[in-house]
Amino acid sequence: MSDSDLIVAARQAREFARAEFSTFKVGAALETADGTIVTGCNIENATCGLTICAERVAMFKAQSEGHHAFRRIAVVADTEAPTPPCGACRQILWEFGGDLEVILANLQRETGRHKLSDLLPLPFDSRLLQ
Ligand code: THU
Repeated sequence: MSDSDLIVAARQAREFARAEFSTFKVGAALETADGTIVTGCNIENATCGLTICAERVAMFKAQSEGHHAFRRIAVVADTEAPTPPCGACRQILWEFGGDLEVILANLQRETGRHKLSDLLPLPFDSRLLQ
């Protein structure tokens, strides 16, 4: 799958966003090591604090379907500037996905590309719990 196919999958997932409170819709598409694509969208609720971002929905879906190795994630929002994963998502993506390539895009084009280790330097993870 090409980068643009992954971005298209994230754009399609964004259409399912439950963003009635912020109106800020986000889609994510996570590529596993075997080439499977697992998508997610943000899901909000009236308490706001229980909101879950598109990236974590994709990763938790992938975990629940038995995927444990990943290559890339595409994240799409309707913003001119790149919309990068929030801190909570960086932590979850790191712990379950390792040093993923993070591809950012809006509805028209790619807006950024990063290694997750550059977005989350000096991470806390299970290596410190030995
Ligand atoms: N959001 C995401 O889903 N991913 C991001 O990378 C940034 C923020 C969601 C959370 C919330 O539903 C809305 O965007 C506004 O913060």
